[in-house]
Amino acid sequence: MKLLVTAGPTREPLDPVRFLSNRSSGKMGYAVAAVAKARGHEVILISGPVSIEPPDVQVIQVTTAEQMLEAVDKNVEWCDALVMAAAVADWRPAVISNRKIKKAEAAPVIHLEQTPDILKRVLSKKGKKLYVGFAAETENLEEEATRKLHGKGLDLIVANDVSASDAGFEVDNNRAILLDRSGASEALPLMPKKQVAAHILDWIEEHAAFVM
Ligand code: CTP
Repeated sequence: MKLLVTAGPTREPLDPVRFLSNRSSGKMGYAVAAVAKARGHEVILISGPVSIEPPDVQVIQVTTAEQMLEAVDKNVEWCDALVMAAAVADWRPAVISNRKIKKAEAAPVIHLEQTPDILKRVLSKKGKKLYVGFAAETENLEEEATRKLHGKGLDLIVANDVSASDAGFEVDNNRAILLDRSGASEALPLMPKKQVAAHILDWIEEHAAFVM
């Protein structure tokens, strides 16, 4: 199979030295890419700025949500499955200063605007491809994940509670629930992200057969 995987955060610049971003380390998406490659799949990994070593696959480096959208849009037709593990920033400064904002100036008011929702923007290209999303939540985990599963037209969503300190952002382990569009769900215990990735790949391999 051909897998297009996104990983890491995006960075939304405010001025030449500052940006808005989030705590994503890229570990979950990199694990999906590595496990997929080890299973013999073809992988393109679109990555935001992270400090971990990429697996031995084609990597497209991006910084902003807009650049990630462009890279996903350009490559999505190639793939059989899109795995959106990236923590895309939802907001960006509406105005980017082309010079450093100085401390001596009055405290700046930063107006934000929404970034494009990448999954929604490529929904029209879905066809028989499998689309897998992630939901990082701090409350109402299953409810929010189910809303995103249907709202974004996904086949599978991987929900994780990022308020726990032993799982989720930055660490090597995750405690995820896999929810699919048929209503099936699988709650995984705390395990290394590579094992979570293996469960996601199992689901993709099993369901690809029906759509290909
Ligand atoms: N996502 C996306 N484009 C965005 C934001 C998120 O494609 N601009 C994708 C993420 O990669 C993830 C899924 O949508 O697979 C859910 O992301 P999440 O941040 O949990 O949800 P949001 O759509 O941002 O919704 P909310 O703000 O209500 O949590």
